[in-house]
Amino acid sequence: MSDYRLELRNVSKSFGEVQSLRNVNFQVGQNEVVGLLGDNGAGKSTLIKIITGYHRPDSGELFFNGEKVENLTVPKARALGVETVYQERALAEQQSLWRNIFIGRELRTRLGFLDVKKMREETNRLMLESMGFTSAAVSPDSIIGTFSGGEKQGVAIVRALYFEAELIILDEPTMGLALKETHKLLDFVRQIKKAGKSAIFIDHNVFHVYEVADRVVVLDRGSVAGEFMTKDITLNDLMHKMYLVAQTGSLEEPVEEMIGDEAE
Ligand SMILES: Nc1ncnc2c1ncn2[C@@H]1O[C@H](COP(=O)(O)OP(=O)(O)OP(=O)(O)O)[C@@H](O)[C@H]1O
Ligand SMILES: [Mg+2]
Repeated sequence: MSDYRLELRNVSKSFGEVQSLRNVNFQVGQNEVVGLLGDNGAGKSTLIKIITGYHRPDSGELFFNGEKVENLTVPKARALGVETVYQERALAEQQSLWRNIFIGRELRTRLGFLDVKKMREETNRLMLESMGFTSAAVSPDSIIGTFSGGEKQGVAIVRALYFEAELIILDEPTMGLALKETHKLLDFVRQIKKAGKSAIFIDHNVFHVYEVADRVVVLDRGSVAGEFMTKDITLNDLMHKMYLVAQTGSLEEPVEEMIGDEAE
């Protein structure tokens, strides 16, 4: 098996005058959580949309498990195991928890009828084993609209894992979440790792990214400015690097200006 679940080589993408991505090389290992950091407009969402088949790159190559994939489409990406967890959007608010888990992928009896009993049972098991919903207030029949933002995303992650997603993408999942919800969400991201799958985790908050990512990739105005294994860098150093990128567009420490005789 390839070392990489996903690899992008020299990917570029422009929208009219704006070059959103410039010769981007990006990899996600098997069972690796990659954090994607970068300022507004750095190209993070564009990168994700290329991986999910929503945008076609202008140039460059995509590989899944070492195999080159041409003309990636949204259904093709999904078939390759890419699942995106969107805030709010992914779930049917008026429907029950069990229906949301199995929406579009319903379990059926041998005769082809909906196997409601089985779907309720499976949901109950997932609730206890994966979602940490032990409260008596939550049941497979609970309506999703009553769940908090973090819980909803937890449901979406558990659903993706249940259906064997290989690469789960989270684009700013903590946005708008309260502190406690955020911790819960980060726990769900850790579950992706435990389940042996991979993830791309985008967040403006470097603390969140540092907590769950194995590796951090910093994008700056469409280019990869640098990448770090989180085990090899302290949070303080990472924050300093982010500061440098924001100030100078580079990870290099600025050279002290020469003074005195040597300056002409
Ligand atoms: N469909 C589009 N049409 C035109 N320009 C686009 C489109 N999508 C993205 N862009 C431009 O590409 C650049 C990168 O945008 P992108 O959404 O990828 O950034 P981002 O890193 O996700 O930013 P944010 O942190 O604000 O979500 C921006 O300048 C944006 O305006
Ligand atoms: Mg974005």
